[in-house]
Amino acid sequence: TLSSFILTATEVCPSLAAKGHIKKEEETDLCILLQSIATSCKYIQNCVRKLGLANLSGKNGGTTNVQGEQQMKLDVIAHDVFTRGLDESKRCTMLISEEEEEAIMCTSSPNGRYVCVFDPLDGSSNIDCCVSVGSIFGVYRANALGKGDVNDVLRPGKEMVAAGYCMYGSACTMVLTVGGNVRGFTLDPSLGEFVLTHPKIKCPPSGATYSVNEGNSRYWGGGMRRYVDHVKYHKEKPHALRYIGSMVADVHRTLLYGGTFSYPGDSKSPNGKLRLLYECFPMAYIMERAGGAASDGTQRILDVCCTGIHQRHPIHMGSEEDVEEIDRFYREAA
Ligand code: AHG
Ligand code: MN
Ligand code: MN
Ligand code: MN
Repeated sequence: TLSSFILTATEVCPSLAAKGHIKKEEETDLCILLQSIATSCKYIQNCVRKLGLANLSGKNGGTTNVQGEQQMKLDVIAHDVFTRGLDESKRCTMLISEEEEEAIMCTSSPNGRYVCVFDPLDGSSNIDCCVSVGSIFGVYRANALGKGDVNDVLRPGKEMVAAGYCMYGSACTMVLTVGGNVRGFTLDPSLGEFVLTHPKIKCPPSGATYSVNEGNSRYWGGGMRRYVDHVKYHKEKPHALRYIGSMVADVHRTLLYGGTFSYPGDSKSPNGKLRLLYECFPMAYIMERAGGAASDGTQRILDVCCTGIHQRHPIHMGSEEDVEEIDRFYREAA
C-alpha cells in the first residue's frame, strides 16, 4: 500500500540520495508530507463521490481566484483540505496553491524542510458532469530549514524532489514519483488504503493519439498546425484525437497509453493556459521519470526557470518519439 511504500524510506527518496543529502530525518519528513497528501486526496475523493448528494456541486457563490476563474465549491474545499493537511504535517515551510494569490507561509516548525506546490482540484469545470478531475502536487526542498521564501520555488522544475497526482475517475488513482520509478496506487474503498497496482509505469515510446483543444486551432502557430495535420492525415498511422479537458485525465491516459498531450501557446494566449509551477512541472517530472518527455516546443519543460508562482507556460508532453516530432515541427516552423 502507499502507507507501507511511504514508510520504506530508502525506496521513497532516490532523488535525495542522488543528491547525497539522504539523511534519515529528510526521508522521514518527506514520508510524513506524502502521507498528509494521501489523506487529503482520500477526503477530496469522498467529496467528489457524493457531490450531488451533499450539495457540494456548483460554483462557490461567485468567488474568483487569481487566475480570474469562477471557483467551484470543490476548488475551495480541496484547497482548504490540502493547505490544512500540509500545514499540520509540520514538514513544509511554504505552500503554493492555484487557489491562493500569495505564497502561504506555514506554521513554523523545526522539521519544516519542504515546499509543496499544488493544484488542489484540476479540471474543476468538469466536476458537475462527473467527468474525471484530480489533484496535482510537486515538492521542492526548502533552501532554509523552517523558513519559507518565495525564491524556494523560483527555480527550474528539475529541482523538484517529488511529484504526483491523484485522479478521481472511475477509480481513485494516485500516481507518484520521488525521483525514481513512477508508481500507481488505486484506492481500495473497503480498506481506505491506496494499493500498489502499477509498480513501474512506463510511457510507451510512441502512441496513436494526440490530445489538444482543436477549438483553438485558428490561433495556433505553424509548428502546432503542421504537427496536427501530420498526425491527422498520416498515411500509415493516422492518430485519433482524445481530449477530456481535465489535464490529470488527459495526462494519465497519455502516460499509460502513449501519444501526446498539448496545451500550446497561440496568438490568443502566447503562454497557453496551464500553470508552470503546479501543473506543467509536476506532470513533466512524472512523464520524464516514466520514460516520456515534456517540452514547450523549443526546450525541456523541466529546464524552464519559474519566475512567477502563477505563470503560464506552453506544454507538449507524452511519448518521447512523439514529443521529439512536435519539437521538430516547431523548429521547422520557426
Ligand atoms: P483547473 O481546473 O485546475 O483550473 O485546470 C483546468 C485546465 C486543465 O485541467 C485542462 O487541461 C485545461 O484547463 C482545459 O482547458 P480548455 O478548456 O481551454 O481546453
Ligand atoms: Mn482553476
Ligand atoms: Mn489545473
Ligand atoms: Mn485547479
